[in-house]
Amino acid sequence: METVVAEIRVCSVDDVKPGSAKRFDVDGYRLAVVRIGDDGWYVLGDQCTHAEASIAEGEVWPEECEIECPKHGSAFSLTTGEPLTLPATEPVPVYGVRIDGSDVLVEVPE
Ligand code: FES
Repeated sequence: METVVAEIRVCSVDDVKPGSAKRFDVDGYRLAVVRIGDDGWYVLGDQCTHAEASIAEGEVWPEECEIECPKHGSAFSLTTGEPLTLPATEPVPVYGVRIDGSDVLVEVPE
């Protein structure tokens, strides 16, 4: 069965610099938007699964395609949301992302 998704506009491409991440709160979703290079876009749930921390405030590792939680250092895969190092053991959600002109659109369940 296919999951029905809706697209929400989260930000403009100019809002997130290449090699960085930023938190956006839109429609009840707390999202970490990550940009690698000019065209690599990833969107994760911003809440770390270990404790209260904003993943978007962590360091982005472009080569590894990971982001590191700023609080205790768990690295999360930008493609799967899986934690690759402790102490976090649960994945963060990953959302589909599409660029339309200058808009960053994110797929969320409807
Ligand atoms: S709060 Fe993220 S690793 Fe602990």
